[in-house]
Amino acid sequence: MFGGPPRDTVDLSGLQYPGAAPTLVVTASPGKQPDMDILKGKKALIFGVANDHSISWGIAQALRAAGAELAFSYAGENLERRVRPLAEKVDATFVEQCDVTDDAQIEHVFNLVGERFGAIDILIHGVAYAPRNELTGRFLNTSREGWHIALDVSAYSLVALTRAALPHFNPGAATLTLSYYGAEKVVPNYNVMGVAKSALEATVRYLAADLGPEGYRVNAISAGPMRTLSAAGIGDFRRMHRQFADTAPLRRNITLEDVGNTALWLCSDLSSGVTGETVYVDAGYNILGMSEGEPAQS
Ligand SMILES: NC(=O)c1ccc[n+]([C@@H]2O[C@H](COP(=O)([O-])OP(=O)(O)OC[C@H]3O[C@@H](n4cnc5c(N)ncnc54)[C@H](O)[C@@H]3O)[C@@H](O)[C@H]2O)c1
Repeated sequence: MFGGPPRDTVDLSGLQYPGAAPTLVVTASPGKQPDMDILKGKKALIFGVANDHSISWGIAQALRAAGAELAFSYAGENLERRVRPLAEKVDATFVEQCDVTDDAQIEHVFNLVGERFGAIDILIHGVAYAPRNELTGRFLNTSREGWHIALDVSAYSLVALTRAALPHFNPGAATLTLSYYGAEKVVPNYNVMGVAKSALEATVRYLAADLGPEGYRVNAISAGPMRTLSAAGIGDFRRMHRQFADTAPLRRNITLEDVGNTALWLCSDLSSGVTGETVYVDAGYNILGMSEGEPAQS
């Protein structure tokens, strides 16, 4: 899935500043995994893999290809049979359950991280949920319970996981979460999840300001629609997915590699000066004020 012959080569070895990091040679071709080992010796803890379509799985593969050692936490017992074989594919042995709405489970999983995995450099938060009935029809009908669940699982959990991870962070650690354009513009059926993503993006900024003085970074990727388990719960998602590719400037949908490569940048020293940001990986969709659509009838 990742790899392939490099098309372009950027040789930065001539750039030397006093006290600069070791020289870096990056080779990459569009949509492919850069050929480099920039995360060698780094450890990443990943929440949010449910299957091989999960965005977190795309991120996991990109981080592994760059040399990181990985650990996984999954939501519930019935996911273990899917997550464990994937973890094995990327040489990960730490695979533990954690429901992010349960503080006791969060404490437990981080105790295990401390005992069995060690200090971490990267925390991936690829977790979101809202009851299916909240993701169709009028936003006006959002229930109090649906609101609580969506914001707890999809936004508060970033605070809870980052706080629990803090004592285990190596210097310069980076946290990354996943958002969607429905955080800032109205997308039909996205409803309470749009509110949760707004809260998530604000949470990224507040956490980044809080942890910045200690040298830790927190960012989000706002990804275009992708066919995953979570997305299947959004009303009329197939149409949204199709329409996106017809409209986005790059005229295509987003791939796991697209997100994985940007995650690699945001979780490595290549983005050492970037924190509190929401970075779009959406084939340019967010820059549009109006789609070209059908030619007007004269
Ligand atoms: N698929 C898209 O179109 C799209 C676009 C932009 C952003 N995102 C975001 O990307 C992230 C990953 O979603 P995905 O599309 O890969 O779908 P996914 O279903 O593969 O991943 C969502 C994950 O959240 C986990 N989860 C849900 N409730 C949990 C809980 N209580 N405790 C622990 N884990 C829990 C699920 O088990 C699953 O692994 C989400 O934040 C999603 O909103 C998705």
